[in-house]
Amino acid sequence: MIDANRLWWQTGVFYIVYTRSFKDKNGDGVGDLAGVVEKLDYLSQTLGVDAIWVAAIYPSPMADFGYDVSNYTDVLPLFGDLPDFDELIAQAHRRGLKVIVDYVPNHSSDQHPWFIESRSSRTNAKRDWYMWADSRSDGSPPNNWVSVFGGPAWEWDKATGQYYMHTFLKEQPDLNWRCPALKEAMFDVARFWLGRGVDGFRIDCAHHIIKDPLLRHNPPNPAPADTAYKPLGEYDSQLHLYDREHPDVHAVWREFRQLLDSYSATQPRAAFGEIHVFDWPKWAAYYGQRLDELHMPFNLGLIGAKWEVRTFRRLVDGIEAALPPGAWPNYMLNNFDESRSATRYGQAQARVAAMLLLTLRGTPTLCYGEEIGMTNVSIPPERQQDPFGLRVPGLGRDPYRTPMQWNPGPNAGFSAPDTPHLWLPLAVGYREVNVETELADPTSFLNLYRRLIACRKAMPALLWGDYRPVDGAPSVDGVPEDCYVYLRQAGDQRVLIALNFSAHEQYVALPSPGLGRLVLSTHLDRQGGAFLAGISLRGNEGVIVELPAEDL
Ligand code: NOJ
Repeated sequence: MIDANRLWWQTGVFYIVYTRSFKDKNGDGVGDLAGVVEKLDYLSQTLGVDAIWVAAIYPSPMADFGYDVSNYTDVLPLFGDLPDFDELIAQAHRRGLKVIVDYVPNHSSDQHPWFIESRSSRTNAKRDWYMWADSRSDGSPPNNWVSVFGGPAWEWDKATGQYYMHTFLKEQPDLNWRCPALKEAMFDVARFWLGRGVDGFRIDCAHHIIKDPLLRHNPPNPAPADTAYKPLGEYDSQLHLYDREHPDVHAVWREFRQLLDSYSATQPRAAFGEIHVFDWPKWAAYYGQRLDELHMPFNLGLIGAKWEVRTFRRLVDGIEAALPPGAWPNYMLNNFDESRSATRYGQAQARVAAMLLLTLRGTPTLCYGEEIGMTNVSIPPERQQDPFGLRVPGLGRDPYRTPMQWNPGPNAGFSAPDTPHLWLPLAVGYREVNVETELADPTSFLNLYRRLIACRKAMPALLWGDYRPVDGAPSVDGVPEDCYVYLRQAGDQRVLIALNFSAHEQYVALPSPGLGRLVLSTHLDRQGGAFLAGISLRGNEGVIVELPAEDL
């Protein structure tokens, strides 16, 4: 079914493997690369995804669980070593699975040898590799910038008498991408992983790397509560005009794209950026005006969206409208930084959300455990790990990072049954919510995800067809306001997706008589002919209906 003219990152389903939490092969209570290799058949065959982003694998003192990298060209020994990584690439590629790794360009660890050198003296050759600045005349930091994780974004270095900038923790100093030698060293990091055969990079904080050269103060945010995303405490008190998204960032990603292109003749490589920007034209700018920057800036919009049709509809239509010509969209409901969709929306609603994710135009990205309906796990205070949560109570990400639930046995099959301590506690309900149990239940969450993925792969209209929302007529016939209905069409194939966001029965009446074919219901209990003049949807039900070839 896959069209050779379309690239793997357009036709594939992505899956985030949070390495610490996916599968612990060596029984130390923490996931590892050998564990990921063990589960490749599950990923490629049982579930049917096409690309895995193996997250946060580099050596790190773990101040921010791997996003404080102390060596960009090695693997954290807790997870394995470079030969283990090579084995993962080889085994994944043997199964047709692509492998994406992190690229963390905005900051390193303060334990990275580059930073240790940089802070050793003002005249060190690597001084300029990081963001150093003098204090103001009263000794205060160079400007008012605040850290995403709370507190000032500047840390005083007594030995050299200057401040250094950190967008996140003080243990994560920001790199200076205006320094050509730093840029070249970071491009060498990319070359290192491309040489080992990775298919792509997920670029952490890609919009943060270039700041205002004049270090101007950020203005106050007049509406701090009005966040398009989750509330971030003190960080929301400013408009981030000067500490991120400087226009010069685009030149860097254009050059990075050229680097990837130079490796793509026989193996197409791609860059996906973490862009926490919710103004769609600004977000879309990261594709590049000529599609010459990131292949896809990851879109995080669905994660913050309230469960109501008009919000989702406005979001998808806004994203579609903002795309430069030829750009390929993408969506995700979950990642390891965010509350899980089954908790945000509820179990029944999360099934409908899954149908949305896997039927929209654009690459879907799932996060480990989403496919079995994992929910947030409440973490007792003494087991909390995430420094963000320890600094800003309530914002910790541990509840979304708990071990994957593979079976109903001890340690949920994440680790050996006799492993005494897992790095985070398991979900209380894992004996019911796990891969093994759900595989045996024909209507489970997991079987819904499997069916949706299989359906997407089998239908060109879902894979690369156009997207067209269907509006309700203002009469009794039409689309009720609690339903999100859209068409996907490729060639002669036309597929209607109707999603009931409410808990009540709804009746979708289309202007076309005739009979369609109900391909899938989120309840997984009906298939067959569907009269298009009136499709009735049960509460929290979504359906995929293949239409006859004539116009709707
Ligand atoms: C995004 C990562 O996913 C998150 O875990 C991390 O804390 C920040 N970027 C900073 O690197």
